[in-house]
Amino acid sequence: MGKIKIGIVGAGIIGIDHKRAILKNEDCTLVSVCDLVRGKANELAEDTGAKTYTDYKKMCEEETLDAVILNLPHFLHKEVSIYFLERKIAVLCEKPMAINTKECDEMTKAAQRNNTKLAIGHVQRYFNSYKKVKEIIKTQKFGKLCQMIEIRNINYFTEARPKWFLTKKLSGGGIIMNYGAHSLDKFSYLTQLKIEKVSASGNNFISDDDVEATAQMLVTYEGGVTAMCSYCGTKTNGQHEIYFYFTNGAVKIEEGGHKMYVCEGVNEYEEVEIESTDIFADQLEEFVKLLKNEESNVATPEFSREIVGALTEAVSQIL
Ligand SMILES: NC(=O)c1ccc[n+]([C@@H]2O[C@H](COP(=O)([O-])OP(=O)(O)OC[C@H]3O[C@@H](n4cnc5c(N)ncnc54)[C@H](O)[C@@H]3O)[C@@H](O)[C@H]2O)c1
Repeated sequence: MGKIKIGIVGAGIIGIDHKRAILKNEDCTLVSVCDLVRGKANELAEDTGAKTYTDYKKMCEEETLDAVILNLPHFLHKEVSIYFLERKIAVLCEKPMAINTKECDEMTKAAQRNNTKLAIGHVQRYFNSYKKVKEIIKTQKFGKLCQMIEIRNINYFTEARPKWFLTKKLSGGGIIMNYGAHSLDKFSYLTQLKIEKVSASGNNFISDDDVEATAQMLVTYEGGVTAMCSYCGTKTNGQHEIYFYFTNGAVKIEEGGHKMYVCEGVNEYEEVEIESTDIFADQLEEFVKLLKNEESNVATPEFSREIVGALTEAVSQIL
């Protein structure tokens, strides 16, 4: 088998991480980059020899592609995924899978109908800290898992944020839709539990946009494990912490996944050495395994649909 020929659609903020992952992967080659804005496509393709396009359909017609990585506003995930799946081109689509579960179902059906692989870019599970947490949950090192908490505060409504994020029709929701996709990926993937119930409250007192700016979401998993996600997108000094509480101890993750602390029982937290890794490269390796029909832990459409279901339920309870 020759190299896997990959096209990128969407050369915005996160495109650079996928480009780096492709260039690092010996099984893959970056063939083309598409963005509505030619300059962005050109910039991302620089030094790679990849051809650039402003129309993904034209790119699809002119290039021989095995797979595409889609880094697009959420409302385009369904339409563009299905376009490529119908042409038997595998898709790694950024999170969240789509803006509602109906769209997720259409994407899943397109993948099945064409016997073509579809995966979703739930990338945070690849931090080495979370790999350790998964093991701690599984082995019950600190007893039974009881609850999980993610607190993420960030100045969300900045000039740098692409405007589509702030329009519900285009994004599916605000801070929950965006960061909740990461929280629930971690919590559902690490526990391997199904979500049973979601409730949420929040507001948008900071902007005129129609998306939630602050939100708190309570998720109940099968068997009674709970998760609380608290997001605040106002102008504050940022904070990002994740906690896993067990019957006899706890794990704390900081700096998004780079720092990890554990405490047994009521003892002080102790730092655990975490090897840094390129999570986008790790994710691509898993996607490549999927394409080769090998065992892979890249997020499946079924898994990702459950997350979209929970997030849209939460968003619908807020604004
Ligand atoms: N995994 C992560 O950590 C992470 C981080 C940021 C964003 N994301 C996700 O990545 C996706 C993209 O987010 P972003 O921050 O890069 O957004 P962005 O707005 O910076 O990039 C989107 C790009 O798509 C282009 N585009 C829009 N319509 C197009 C079309 N029809 N054809 C070709 N190009 C088109 C835009 O011009 C823009 O450059 C979203 O799903 C977002 O949630 C993931």
